[in-house]
Amino acid sequence: MNKKPASLLLAAVLAMSAFLSVAQQTGAPAGGAATPATAATPAPAAPVAPAAPAAPVGKADIAAGDAKYNAVCASCHGAGGNSGTPANPRLSQQHPAYLVKQLQEFKSGKRPSPIMQGFAAQLTEQDMANIGAYLGAQQAKPGFAKDRELVSLGEKIYRGGLQDRQLPACTGCHSPNGAGVPAQYPRLSGQHADYTYSQLVAFRDGVRKNSPQMAQIAAKLNDREIRAVSDYVAGLR
Ligand code: HEC
Ligand code: HEC
Repeated sequence: MNKKPASLLLAAVLAMSAFLSVAQQTGAPAGGAATPATAATPAPAAPVAPAAPAAPVGKADIAAGDAKYNAVCASCHGAGGNSGTPANPRLSQQHPAYLVKQLQEFKSGKRPSPIMQGFAAQLTEQDMANIGAYLGAQQAKPGFAKDRELVSLGEKIYRGGLQDRQLPACTGCHSPNGAGVPAQYPRLSGQHADYTYSQLVAFRDGVRKNSPQMAQIAAKLNDREIRAVSDYVAGLR
């Protein structure tokens, strides 16, 4: 790939010119302090990962997201994000802000994944916003629960939590039908049970470190309960 140095150079040039124009507006010397805001006017909290030398993200472009997704991601995550492979999560109809957060955190390593880190590393903030908008607009196909024996335990946990362990019901954050609540709480309904299982175990074991909330919740569940709720969620619609 000899595309990379060129795009890095471009990013550097863009970042430099953005910096220079900020410096001109504020009258700060170009070689001076990195933060143009004065102490009296703190900059608003940045909504994106601070590590990125961010070129400002424009309005999400669904057509560009479609093109990029189908060129790079569809082979694993399926047409329109409806992955048919249990290990590869379904992404269709997921909340764009949640998708962007995951891609940023794969890129930074906060959510470790040997597979996704490399793909996320090649995306700009703008690509992430575009792909998020594209996937959020794709209709999810319904999934199915498979394990008759466990499904009622799964339903009990999802809808009621476990009082004796102070486990809150999943409905409280992920909504009764699993559609989630934008922008923070992801859609779970129809997700492959294998994938959901792997994520709950990763939260519990401290491997997926991007949600203290979910780590606490998963820590209260044993393997059988994780299996049950994962299967139940696959059939939610
Ligand atoms: C080689 C297969 C493969 C390719 C190609 C791939 N992914 Fe993934 N993706 C995965 C796997 C496997 C996971 C689950 C990672 C884990 O266990 O945390 C995943 C997870 C994700 C997640 C997290 C979903 C969630 O519900 O939290 C997002 C978002 C994602 N991928 C987006 C993308 C995008 C965008 C691209 C293209 C730029 C892409 N993926 C390319 C295999 C792939
Ligand atoms: C207090 C709110 C809250 C409750 C209750 C909650 N969750 Fe979550 N959950 C979250 C948040 C926030 C995230 C997103 C984490 C992130 O940003 O990576 C999440 C993410 C997840 C994910 C990862 C989704 C993906 O696509 O990778 C799974 C699976 C999940 N929750 C399952 C559950 C289950 C099962 C329960 C009930 C036992 C539950 N959650 C209860 C807040 C909650």
